[in-house]
Parts: sequence; structure tokens; C-alpha cells
Amino acid sequence: MKEIVFATNNENKLQEIRNILSDGFIVLGLSDIGFNTDIPETGTTLQQNASIKSTTIYKQYNINCFSDDTGLEVEALGNKPGVFSARYAGINSTYDENVDKLLQELKGVENRVAAFSTVISLFLNGKEYFFEGRISGTITHKRHGERGFGYDPVFLPDGYNVTFAQMLPELKNKISHRALATKKLVFFLQNEV
Ligand code: IMP
Repeated sequence: MKEIVFATNNENKLQEIRNILSDGFIVLGLSDIGFNTDIPETGTTLQQNASIKSTTIYKQYNINCFSDDTGLEVEALGNKPGVFSARYAGINSTYDENVDKLLQELKGVENRVAAFSTVISLFLNGKEYFFEGRISGTITHKRHGERGFGYDPVFLPDGYNVTFAQMLPELKNKISHRALATKKLVFFLQNEV
């Protein structure tokens, strides 16, 4: 079995990818390799931030690894919050505070077009590869639904009449930005390695 590190501390993301890749890969998390330092996300794009994380691990451990970064891009806000999605309302802001700020910024704005984007950076045998997943939609005027996390209650994906927070997780996890990027990564790992 080949070992690969997923540069994340998020147990849910780790478990999800472990299940998908269980046939050919042992997927290690950061704690499994004894890496307990916070990697600062100082990039100005999702691609840079994903790359910073995987490069840090690759350089220190010389092991195949990947990492991801996700952002919500809102057209009327010049594609913000983008890389700042997790800290839109300030450092350590909660999901609720970020959604409140978004709704406030879009008050009276007609153009509600938005997209979630996930970029995965993979270091494989010293070479870097990128995979992107994107889903377009619109931002609602108020919250709908209780499921999910982050901006889910106000994100209405194109082609559906419910927000991510109203969907069953099974459906969201099939069509989401992260699912699409992950699918490309998995296809690559299962066919190229
Ligand atoms: P991360 O790069 O996966 O940590 O995501 C950064 C931020 O984007 C999170 O803190 C959330 O606010 C937001 N986000 C990422 N994925 C989702 C999602 O699937 N639904 C809603 N918000 C998300």
C-alpha cells in the first residue's frame, strides 16, 4: 500500500478521503506524522494557499501529500470573501458572523451570483499537480436550512431550489465543489500512480 499525507487537521475530510482511497492508499493526517504546527495561509489565491500547505509537508518529510483550500466567491463583491472565507468577519469569526456579514454586504444588491471553489494541490514524486472543483449558485436573502456548515444556509446551487443547508448531506457531497475536486484527485491517483 502506498502512503500519502493529507495536510489537514479536519478529521471529517480525512475520514472521507480514507474511505474513497482505501483500496490502494494509506492516507495519513498531520497528527499521524507528528506535525502539530499551524501552517499560516498567507497566499492571495486558493491555489497559493493549497500549495503552501502541501509544499511545507513535502519539503519537511519528503513524502507524497496533498492539501485543499476552499472559498466562496461572490460576483457583486469582486469575488470576495474568496481566500478570506473562514475569517470574513474577522480573525476567529464564527460561521454565523461570516454569514451575517455577507448578507449585510449584499443588502439591496440585486446580483447574487456566487460560486464555491476548492483547489487541491498534490505533491507526487516531487511534482505538483492542481485539481479544481467549482459549483455556481446564488446567495439567498436570508438563511434556509439547518444542515451543513459555513455559508451553506445562504448558498442556493444552480439547478436546485434548496440551499446546501436544506439538502441531505449525501446530495451535497455528490455535487459540491469539494466533491468535484476530490473526484479529480482520486481519478488521477487511481489511474496515474
Ligand atoms: P476550508 O479551506 O475548507 O477550511 O474552507 C474555508 C471556509 O470556506 C470555511 O471556513 C467555510 O466558511 C467556507 N466553506 C468551505 N467549504 C464550505 C461548504 O461546503 N459549505 C459552506 N461553506 C464552506
